[in-house]
Parts: sequence; structure tokens; C-alpha cells
Amino acid sequence: MSASETVDSRLQTRATELFGVRYPIVQTGMGWVAGPSLVSGTANAGGLGILAAATMTYDEMVAAIAKVRSRTDQPFGVNLRTDAVDIAERVDHLIASDVKVASFAQAPRPDMVKKLKDNGIVVVPTVGARRHAEKVAEWGVDAVLCQGGEGGGHTGTVPTSLLLPEVIDAVDIPVIAAGGFHDGRGLAAALAWGADGIAMGTRFLLTADSKVPDEVKAVYLGTPVTGTVVSTAIDGAPQRVIRTEVIDNLERTGLLSLPRAGINALKFRKLTDTSLADLLREGVNMKKNQDLSWAQVAMAANAAMLTRATMVEGKLEVGILPTGQCVGVVDDLPTCEELISRIVDEAVARFDAVCS
Ligand SMILES: Cc1cc2nc3c(=O)[nH]c(=O)nc-3n(C[C@H](O)[C@H](O)[C@H](O)COP(=O)(O)O)c2cc1C
Repeated sequence: MSASETVDSRLQTRATELFGVRYPIVQTGMGWVAGPSLVSGTANAGGLGILAAATMTYDEMVAAIAKVRSRTDQPFGVNLRTDAVDIAERVDHLIASDVKVASFAQAPRPDMVKKLKDNGIVVVPTVGARRHAEKVAEWGVDAVLCQGGEGGGHTGTVPTSLLLPEVIDAVDIPVIAAGGFHDGRGLAAALAWGADGIAMGTRFLLTADSKVPDEVKAVYLGTPVTGTVVSTAIDGAPQRVIRTEVIDNLERTGLLSLPRAGINALKFRKLTDTSLADLLREGVNMKKNQDLSWAQVAMAANAAMLTRATMVEGKLEVGILPTGQCVGVVDDLPTCEELISRIVDEAVARFDAVCS
């Protein structure tokens, strides 16, 4: 669609206004996946792209934001981890570089919400339960990304079809529906439910603009809708991944022993240039915020390393591939432009069909 063409008014929502984007479609901040290419591809196609900075070092995040900026003049977001040791510096950098949206996998602290909002940044945490949505809404966030159980990565148990209406009824702010969305029918359905847009992870992972190695994408494309599992054995929190042999073994044996998990956490430290003091501080933060055991804290750092090896280096034998269930109904690799324009056309066609 050219810039002069107007968007169907049924697709103009509180979210498009809040984010300053053409379409109510968000590409989520998937760790190791949502880099500058995917984010700028989404932004230039009229959606809101979110950079996955939670798995980047501070310097990588700064460089990635600059790269997105050099490729698009459209708004975009950055995904952060509330318990990162350098979260204050990261927030300052988002403010200094005029990023439009700050997204959070967990609830950001009220003082963080205030600082970001006071500086004009839109704050959007992900929620997987009604009470979480109510809590962050009280703290003043601008919108919530409501992720149902079929979603990829860390996820809850309530399916999108039940969680979404519950959250929409509970809060007055815009709600972005996530978990299982992959096409225009889903966008039309989410808007009909009363949501203000959709957010998609897995569907954007499987595009030509995502830099995930081809051999990894091939595994996703070959996975059926029943080929995923939610496991707590990876880092202690429920995470939806492709069911691989590694995951089956982890499920059987449980979390790695503390010494092995600790050794792997130290390897991860080298890989990411984290100082031992920072690693320990981050571990203490994680433990405090998420009520994890020390073995789980060490495994969380470990899981990050294993996921990176699979998703970035293409080491399929490592076998940790976070995914939503919709992986089973996705069978192509369009560009972001092709994907967004076909979702928009399909949603409009659904609206027309229903209302005729
Ligand atoms: C590979 C992968 C990595 C993810 N990493 C993150 C992350 O770092 N931060 C986050 O907030 N959500 C993360 N998620 C969750 C997604 O952002 C999104 O909420 C979810 O994928 C939506 O469900 P869908 O896959 O069905 O579209 C990840 C999901 C996937 C598939």
C-alpha cells in the first residue's frame, strides 16, 4: 500500500494511534531472533517492530538501535528485562535515543513506568493472567500485550480465547492480543473480541527478514501443530518449545545439577562479556524477583546460552527452539511486507464477509 492510500478505518485502533503505526500488528521482541533486520522490515511495512534487547549486552543494544534507526524512520520498540543489572542505563538510553515503545516480558517497577512515561515512551508489558494486567494497569502502563498459552517462549496456561476477553474486560487501556496469531482471520477475530491489535512472535520468526539460520527455520516449518511442549525443565519457568530429543531428556532428568548449570552459566558470562560481579548481581536479582532456586538461576543463564547456540549459530543438536503452537500452521517465509499486507487484506475481507 502506498503512503497516500488510506487505511481501512476498521483497522485504526487505540494501538495504531498510541504506537504511531499504520496497522495494528506488532512483531514481538523475541530473544536472539528480533534483530534490526526484522524490526526495520516490520516498521517499514507499517507494523510495530520490537527489538529483542533482553538477550543483548548493553553495547549490542545501543548498536542495534542505531542500526534500526539507519534503516527506518518509522517508530519501533525495544524489549527489556526488568531485572537486568544495567536496566537503569538501558532505560536512559531508550530515552536518549527517542525510542517509541518499551516492552517488558515481566512487570516493570512502578518507578520505571513513571520515568519512561514522563519521557514520552509508551510502556507495554506482556501479561499472561488477568491479575497481572490489573496490577500493571494500576501502575500506569499504556497498553498490555496479552499472551495466551498457545504462545511461544515463556507462556501461561490460559488459552488466548479465554484470557483475551478476561483481560479486555478487566482493564481500560489498549490490549494487544498474542498467542497463536498468524493470519488475517486472527486479526479480524482479535479486533472483534475487542482487542486493539495482534502481536506475533513465531509468524515473524518465519519470515525472509528474520536472520534465524535457514536450517533452523526448516525445523520450524517441518513441525506439526502437536510438535511443541511447555517445559519447566529449561530454566524453571514454563516455556513453549519445539519438542526435541534434548527437551525430552531434560524433561526426564529434570533441571541440570547446580555444578553443571553453574559451569554453563560461567561459559555464558564469557560469551556475553558479563563480569562475574554483574553475573552474580543479576542472579541475585532474578532470584529475588522470580523466587527461583540457585540451580534454577544458574540454569536460566545456561538456557540463554543453549538457546543462542541453537537460534543464532544453528547448532540443531543443542535443540532449544522456542515456539508458539501456530508453528504447525505456518508453511512459508514471506517478507514482512508481504506478510503484513496479506494479513491486512485478509482481515478486511473477513470484516466485509461478516458484515455483508
Ligand atoms: C524464539 C522466541 C523468543 C522469545 N523471546 C522473548 C523475549 O526475549 N522477550 C519477550 O518478552 N518475549 C519473548 N518471546 C515471546 C514472544 O515475544 C511473543 O509474546 C510470543 O511468541 C507470542 O506468541 P506466538 O509465538 O504464538 O505469536 C519469545 C518467543 C519466541 C518464539
